[in-house]
Amino acid sequence: MTRTRWTADDVPDQTGRTAVVTGGNTGLGFEAARILAQHGAAVVIACRNAAKAASAADRLRALAPGAAISTVPLDQASLASVRAAAAELRARHERIDLLVNNAGALGAAERRVTVDGFEATFATNHLGVFALTGLVLDRLLAAPGSRVVTLSSLTHRWAAVDLDDLQSERRYRRDAVYSASKLANLMFAYELQRRLAAAGAATASLAAHPGQSRTEFTRDLGAVQRLVYSDRARALTGWAMQDRAVGVLGAVRAAVDPGAAGGEHYGPSGPLGLTGHPVLTATSARSRDTAAQRRLWAASEELTGVRYPLGQLAA
Ligand SMILES: NC(=O)c1ccc[n+]([C@@H]2O[C@H](COP(=O)([O-])OP(=O)(O)OC[C@H]3O[C@@H](n4cnc5c(N)ncnc54)[C@H](OP(=O)(O)O)[C@@H]3O)[C@@H](O)[C@H]2O)c1
Repeated sequence: MTRTRWTADDVPDQTGRTAVVTGGNTGLGFEAARILAQHGAAVVIACRNAAKAASAADRLRALAPGAAISTVPLDQASLASVRAAAAELRARHERIDLLVNNAGALGAAERRVTVDGFEATFATNHLGVFALTGLVLDRLLAAPGSRVVTLSSLTHRWAAVDLDDLQSERRYRRDAVYSASKLANLMFAYELQRRLAAAGAATASLAAHPGQSRTEFTRDLGAVQRLVYSDRARALTGWAMQDRAVGVLGAVRAAVDPGAAGGEHYGPSGPLGLTGHPVLTATSARSRDTAAQRRLWAASEELTGVRYPLGQLAA
């Protein structure tokens, strides 16, 4: 039965399970890590800044006494860092039950490239996710009932992924490139689910979006946009923005609700999907274009050099 108001109280006991949350040092990732830890999961936060990670781990231990909290360095904008993070996760964990692909960034006003030579937003938000997931997939496959949850955005609805210009060399506009990366997240999540199912794997791939949630997401924008996303503006923005502890529930539901299934997408129930508790949510026709998903997958394999162990079994 679909609940109309799914809350953190609906999270089943996660004792004995291991969850990896990327970008778990702040914002939605921190809230996901907190909720999972408070329900018994051993949580690894994968973060690019060691000091922020250590501080977040301390705060998580205080909020979830007794929970096993650890950190792993991860910069999704660097394939070497993604490979190192995956190697460390694989060395430490024989099984990973949940991978929450949360880390992401809005990107810079001007086009930038990563150490690998990729456009930075596409690399951080999509290629890093693609590579990390593929490199730890065997650990997910080893865990019964495991799930991969990838964070998308409402903005995917207006986006298009230009498969002939994935590096935005012809045209770069921050908002459009960010939105396209979030559409790519959805295309990845659905294609991964298709490949998992075709291979007969029990691991499921789902997606979620947080509506508009107050986080540090606008950190690189102007003072007004930073204020709009801040807790200080809560009284003014309540009609269109929600607290991150609620915004993250779509991702948490996708990760742990026994009624959720691979290929599903969860988001806020309220008007325009901006706020509210999570429900099953439709995504754009472009996100469901299987031919485009396959092309993006092939390009992502080519660019990252990561081949999923399911590849030969997929349709
Ligand atoms: N807030 C919203 O309304 C909203 C709406 C739609 C979608 N989302 C999605 O939700 C996810 C979380 O965003 P948020 O709102 O919680 O933003 P946030 O507060 O800015 O947190 C973003 C997290 O991602 C990490 N990150 C950024 N670039 C990274 C990189 N190269 N490698 C590793 N980690 C990196 C950040 O690390 P540092 O702290 O070290 O920078 C931080 O932990 C993102 O995928 C975003 O696209 C958010």
